[in-house]
Amino acid sequence: MCGIVGYIGKRDVAPLLLEGLARLEYRGYDSAGMVITSPKGTGLKMVKAKGRVRDLEARVPKRFAGTTGIAHTRWATHGAPSDHNAHPHMDPENKVAVVHNGIVDNASELRAKLEADGVVFASETDTEVLTHLIARSQAESLEEKVREALKVVEGTYGIAVMHADFSDRVVVARNGSPVVLGVGEKEMFVASDVAALVAHTRQVVTLNDGEMATLKADDFRTYTTTGTRTTATPETVEWEAASYDMGGHDTYMHKEISEQADAVDRVLRGRIDDRFSTVHLGGLNLDAREARGIRRVKILGCGTSYHAGLIGAGLIESLARVPADSEPASEFRYRNPVVDPDTLYIAVSQSGETYDVLAAVQELKRKGARVLGVVNVVGSAIARETDGGVYVHAGPEVCVVSTKCFTNTVVAFALLALHLGRIRDLSVADGKRIIEGLRRLPAQISEILESEDEIRKLADEYADARSMMFIGRVRGYPVALEASLKLKEISYIHAEAYPASELKHGPLALIEPALPTVAIVPDDELLEKNRAALEEIKARSGRILAVAHQEQEKADHTILVPKNEDELDPILMGIPLQLFAYHTALSLGRDIDKPRNLAKSVTVE
Ligand code: F6R
Repeated sequence: MCGIVGYIGKRDVAPLLLEGLARLEYRGYDSAGMVITSPKGTGLKMVKAKGRVRDLEARVPKRFAGTTGIAHTRWATHGAPSDHNAHPHMDPENKVAVVHNGIVDNASELRAKLEADGVVFASETDTEVLTHLIARSQAESLEEKVREALKVVEGTYGIAVMHADFSDRVVVARNGSPVVLGVGEKEMFVASDVAALVAHTRQVVTLNDGEMATLKADDFRTYTTTGTRTTATPETVEWEAASYDMGGHDTYMHKEISEQADAVDRVLRGRIDDRFSTVHLGGLNLDAREARGIRRVKILGCGTSYHAGLIGAGLIESLARVPADSEPASEFRYRNPVVDPDTLYIAVSQSGETYDVLAAVQELKRKGARVLGVVNVVGSAIARETDGGVYVHAGPEVCVVSTKCFTNTVVAFALLALHLGRIRDLSVADGKRIIEGLRRLPAQISEILESEDEIRKLADEYADARSMMFIGRVRGYPVALEASLKLKEISYIHAEAYPASELKHGPLALIEPALPTVAIVPDDELLEKNRAALEEIKARSGRILAVAHQEQEKADHTILVPKNEDELDPILMGIPLQLFAYHTALSLGRDIDKPRNLAKSVTVE
């Protein structure tokens, strides 16, 4: 949510910052801006624009030279998207420039105090408070000025600060919003996300909460917000710059949907143990005795990750026979949950940054719970806060809406369920059956992706609907939930998901020809029950699109998917509906990678 990029070195900084912002645009795209300077101390120069990074680029003056700069792409929280609310924020004397991700919780109070002292604000943002606090500090060094300002600020931040009188440095700080330093040859980068850095360096340092850093062209140092030096050894980022490119596709979403066979292959690689019909999960940090002692599993995530958790809970219940459920992390943390020592808590997150999930993890740990993570971004905040876990290995996901990461997360849950199951009561034969099913997934995913043309035609046919119903039963219900979320996020068509069994308890009242139903109909023990639901819809003249293992007589159209093991079928049944959402949005002319009002990585509450 919002992207920061900064640089200090010898290169012409404006094009570098624009390139970094373009790579971070998926984090927010309602306005953007940058401040630059040269080492000779020629003052700070700023340019900002409401809109996309390309709008900012169009405004960058011809002569805009400098070798140090900070830049930002915004997802509005305080104050509407506009030129003046775009970051960086500067003081009236143009001495201090700040870019900020996160939220200053006590901004109104601090603003009132500053205004009472005669400060005139140029924006409605919470960030500007920080700018004035830094500018008004009497401390001698920039580091001390920033530290003084942060002392009075409550909330979350990842910030980068420049000062006209200290043009040899950029000072950054982190509390709850990611800040990553990139270490180059006589140049230093900073960003909220490695995506902005990897084209230039793969040597990175991830700041911890409560840590600050001073970046100079040939040097950096890290220290706590209370001034104690910390050690920071650069680590090599595993993802390559090329994996952030569009790779010949028109959108990131299409690229990411298309990558799923390889992504699933990656999450399986090196983990299957045929000898014992189980899997090895290196980072789990849960020994067999502890695994046997688990009485319940509670999975916490948001949005798509919560849906993946629902399928994960089903897998854990059926393979490991441990009661399991998934709950939105955002709800969980506000209901003062009973934290049980025999419950294994699992936090799920693609980004590893989602504030609600992170806060739930912190609350659980404070209460002494054991929390594992199922996370995609290696070294992210949630990965680091949890006691162990399973990396999802989907590779970078750039499109705001999650696709390949959903699939890989569910596969990661299948691995975890198999692992727990084989420690508990799952037989060798069932272990072997699931492993064989997992191995079939990549080829079956490729087979589904081959039906894209057919799905595109169906999407064109259904794109005129103003609303759609998605139904599924037990394993199919989370697939329906996720498919309906995908459709509404990128096509803006209203969509609701219901358990098929609940139709007659109310939603059937909505059924009419203008409200199509997408039904998940696997060939499993509930096939006949699902067919009965289709009958009920048809009897009310509802249009039906089924996703099934065999043609459904009552459906107007059926998308066929290959059959796997019953437990693993949900992994495959969601994929055609990602393509369905994609092509529906495309036929409506939507901006697929940047849906309105959304941004990836929700690092605010
Ligand atoms: C939906 C989507 C969001 C995220 C949610 C959690 O397509 O992308 O619903 O799934 O914001 O994000 P992570 O998984 O990064 O915690």
